[in-house]
Amino acid sequence: MKQLFFTLPSLLIALASALPAQAQDIKGNAQAGSHKNALCVGCHGIKGFHTAFPATYQVPKLSGQGAGYMSAALHAYKSGERKHPSMRTLASSLSEQDIADLAAYYESTGTGVALPPRADAGPTRAAELVAKGACASCHGENFSKPINPAYPRISGQHSDYLYEALKAYKTKDKSFVGRANPIMGGVVSQFSLAELKVLADYMGSLPGELQTLQPVRFK
Ligand code: HEC
Ligand code: HEC
Repeated sequence: MKQLFFTLPSLLIALASALPAQAQDIKGNAQAGSHKNALCVGCHGIKGFHTAFPATYQVPKLSGQGAGYMSAALHAYKSGERKHPSMRTLASSLSEQDIADLAAYYESTGTGVALPPRADAGPTRAAELVAKGACASCHGENFSKPINPAYPRISGQHSDYLYEALKAYKTKDKSFVGRANPIMGGVVSQFSLAELKVLADYMGSLPGELQTLQPVRFK
């Protein structure tokens, strides 16, 4: 036992120093990201582009999303926490540096337009559901100022994508659909699919900083 007590910590230290640089040591470079984005524009650089498998919906707007969330989402595909097949394949091909660069690039390309203050809580049904789910307590003012950099901006995202994302947090038993995030898993468990649709339509209709940036030309 004594031996184990002494060797285990040193083994852990040895392991830790043998691991590649941790994500937080890697600095993203937006310009490098803009070149690596060639891999992404075929889907994320086309306004209104729809994915057809495993369901048909518009691919999410990425420009203006925070770097912390971009990185968290890409890691979730890479680890299989998010099951979407083509994003899993793509994310698995990215290095930590690629992820950091792409995240920096997308954060730097939002509209940057200051949001108008929210005049009212929107349609009553949606407002009730938003209050019940305390959405603003994490996604922030106008669902566009997340309290944690690893949380997403929601306002102005495509409604059909938001609905698929919300449904995915509820899906546990499919091979190609599902998101195992425990926080949002807890949130969506309080709602029916019809209620999630109301929330997705409402949040997608709000003004936000997210946009689809189309490259001037394809190289
Ligand atoms: C073949 C089309 C395709 C390509 C190419 C592609 N994506 Fe995606 N991406 C999608 C689809 C579809 C989704 C939605 C997946 C889901 O429902 O979880 C998505 C989702 C994402 C998300 C999650 C967004 C959010 O709001 O949670 C990120 C981040 C992302 N993609 C980044 C990238 C990056 C970076 C690249 C290039 C390295 C890339 N994608 C290339 C189709 C694509
Ligand atoms: C306790 C904090 C918290 C609360 C409350 C919360 N969220 Fe989230 N939300 C998160 C986190 C964290 C993520 C990122 C999960 C992931 O990485 O997949 C997220 C992700 C999402 C996404 C996916 C966005 C994308 O681009 O794919 C949607 C949509 C969403 N939340 C909507 C809502 C709605 C609607 C409510 C209220 C009914 C709500 N959230 C309440 C923390 C929260």
